[in-house]
Amino acid sequence: MKNIVVIGGSKGIGREIVNSQLEKGNKCYNFSRTESGFDNQNLIEVKVDILSDDLPEIENIDSVIYCPGSINLKPILQLKEDDFINDFNINVLGAIKTVKTYLNNLKKGDDPSLIFFSTVAVGQGMPFHSSVSVAKAGIEGLTKSLAAELAPTVRVNCIAPTITRTDMAQRILRNEKIEENIANKHPLKKICEAKDISDMADFLISTNAKNITGQIMRVDGGMSTLKI
Ligand SMILES: NC(=O)c1ccc[n+]([C@@H]2O[C@H](COP(=O)([O-])OP(=O)(O)OC[C@H]3O[C@@H](n4cnc5c(N)ncnc54)[C@H](OP(=O)(O)O)[C@@H]3O)[C@@H](O)[C@H]2O)c1
Repeated sequence: MKNIVVIGGSKGIGREIVNSQLEKGNKCYNFSRTESGFDNQNLIEVKVDILSDDLPEIENIDSVIYCPGSINLKPILQLKEDDFINDFNINVLGAIKTVKTYLNNLKKGDDPSLIFFSTVAVGQGMPFHSSVSVAKAGIEGLTKSLAAELAPTVRVNCIAPTITRTDMAQRILRNEKIEENIANKHPLKKICEAKDISDMADFLISTNAKNITGQIMRVDGGMSTLKI
């Protein structure tokens, strides 16, 4: 049984990862401000606000997955300094706090690994994404730096999704017509589901990915790489 720590496992992609890891018989910790609602003896949940609370101590850890993030889309002239600071805090400093809390014990894990989340908008410029792109570009840099620093012990990877049907994306995917338009902008013509992303996370923390580190895995229906 592996021990998987998910920061932000109550909703969206993180919740899907918790669900899937519990189904595999692994032990999960969910640290977020609300609970997932799953009833499973292998799940430990503690309410934590990553911006203000300390994370609980854990002895045995094999993987740590940091999910909290933001979609704060505004034209540059409407973005205040505080928008950039808030986006940086939740996307980057929360991840760094998590790494600093668990790294020493994570290093003792079984094929230990870390996963962070970026966005398709770092690899492909998109209007109104300045603030979130600054923060997520930081996460991509952190992924590569830590992957180098922690090799060969801890594998560090990042997933960069396109828009994905979760609570966070609700305001954008607000009706069927918009969903259809957005799906059609992707070469694979689909809206990404949380499970599409959790499948990648499952892979990256599995021994099938034992030779993969320092990668930004773009789960984006071909959006960042294809023009068709
Ligand atoms: N969905 C998309 O379209 C999309 C696209 C590109 C990238 N991403 C990235 O993918 C990641 C996951 O996104 P998602 O769509 O699954 O987001 P989500 O549905 O909003 O879920 C985010 C999770 O993080 C937790 N969280 C947020 N703020 C927190 C805080 N201060 N302290 C502790 N936990 C906190 C939330 O739980 P509580 O509210 O209970 O605290 C929730 O469990 C994010 O980094 C996001 O930027 C998402």
